[in-house]
Amino acid sequence: ARHLLGIEDLSPDDIRIILDLADQYADLNRRPRKHSDALAGMTQINMFFENSTRTQSSFELAGKRLGADVMNMAMQASSIKKGETLIDTALTLNAMRPDLLVVRHPHSGAVNLLAEKVTCAVLNAGDGRHEHPTQALLDALTIRRAKGRLHRLTVAICGDIAHSRVARSNILLLGKMENRVRLIGPPTLIPTGAADLGVEVCDDMAEGLKGADVVMMLRLQKERMDGGFIPSEREYYHRYGLDAAKLAHARDDAIVMHPGPMNRGVEIDGTLADDINRSVIQEQVEMGVAVRMAAMDLLARTLRAEREGGTYA
Ligand code: CP
Repeated sequence: ARHLLGIEDLSPDDIRIILDLADQYADLNRRPRKHSDALAGMTQINMFFENSTRTQSSFELAGKRLGADVMNMAMQASSIKKGETLIDTALTLNAMRPDLLVVRHPHSGAVNLLAEKVTCAVLNAGDGRHEHPTQALLDALTIRRAKGRLHRLTVAICGDIAHSRVARSNILLLGKMENRVRLIGPPTLIPTGAADLGVEVCDDMAEGLKGADVVMMLRLQKERMDGGFIPSEREYYHRYGLDAAKLAHARDDAIVMHPGPMNRGVEIDGTLADDINRSVIQEQVEMGVAVRMAAMDLLARTLRAEREGGTYA
């Protein structure tokens, strides 16, 4: 494929191919010599219309480790502030002939729309509540490395599912790889029609965590709540915040995940988040660089093949 817009578009084999290459990059990243030339001569532009720490920095590092020229657009200082539209901005950057465009946008579907207008490869770095494909892939790689497999696991995704593109992409990926997915959260934060996604739904942590191999916590996304359901943080933590007592309901070897940014004392206990015997939160960040290297390397191979075949301008 030319773009990476969502897990929805990937087959189980596509997912395995990305994860196998990412595994190799993860090992390479731990060695003193970190560079490859998979993106040599290519230009990568990062356009983040929403704040980011992990995704933007790891895409930047990934591009640099693969030898690309990487440019981070400072969107707050761009002509978007003068009223230029997303599409005009993208067409302007496209005219500079980048090879890879990495885009985060607050509106669901904005990255797919942009991908239709440009001639380079587009990677979705998170669009509204829709998808965050590289997050689901890095989560999958973290799980596979910790558990030794990525099938027939019970994965509990807990908290604010309704506003979460991370949850949506993970539900799709884990389902495609034949895992059992359980959503746990207050009914107001579970999307309508969740059961149609092939998942189990539960509003009680003790019950929902039973038998879980993986416990994935999510941030309460108040910025997407439009003044709707905003629970008291204390009450929320009491019922849904993960601490050692609630984790005891999961399997003894269950791992704890969080995509970040994390609100300690709201959705997760800070001590548990830092417990390297249970928490793989830092491994998730590390795998983020490897997965983004793999995703961009594979798209670059497609671009080169298209160019050699004369089908790409
Ligand atoms: N998990 C994630 O997307 O984090 P950032 O918002 O910091 O990129």
